[in-house]
Amino acid sequence: MTNRTFTMIKPDATLKGNTGGILDMINKAGFRIVAMKMMHLSAEKAGEFYGVHKERAFYGELVEFMSRGAITAAILEKENAVEDFRKLIGATNPAQAEEGTIRKKYATSIGENAVHGSDSDENAQIEGDFFFSKLEQF
Ligand code: CMP
Repeated sequence: MTNRTFTMIKPDATLKGNTGGILDMINKAGFRIVAMKMMHLSAEKAGEFYGVHKERAFYGELVEFMSRGAITAAILEKENAVEDFRKLIGATNPAQAEEGTIRKKYATSIGENAVHGSDSDENAQIEGDFFFSKLEQF
């Protein structure tokens, strides 16, 4: 299970038509998609997913943003998936993201940063299970 991570392509990227480009970068970096779905989150669901950030000043803005348009949720498999995927997406703030990363190419701000990536194996499992039943994880 430690070779899996969870990602979401966020509404900013969906609305700009960047879903295919981001999936292409993910595939080219050697990740295998083992679950995937596109959906429009309600504010309630987005708030539940980001519940750990409830006390943060940006929580309201984050919930509004994440329920603004469709997202693509996916579980990805690769050796050292969590760490390697965080390298591929780059820093939360795109201004600090390195050349060649997904956020450098597609994100516009710290809030509207195109993609999410799990920060630990434990959270990858929790986040993947939030979106996908056992039958939907291949
Ligand atoms: P993500 O990696 O999905 O995890 C938490 C999200 O909160 C983060 O990406 C950003 O979209 C958002 N976020 C983090 N810090 C800020 C901030 N200072 N202002 C607005 N949104 C933020």
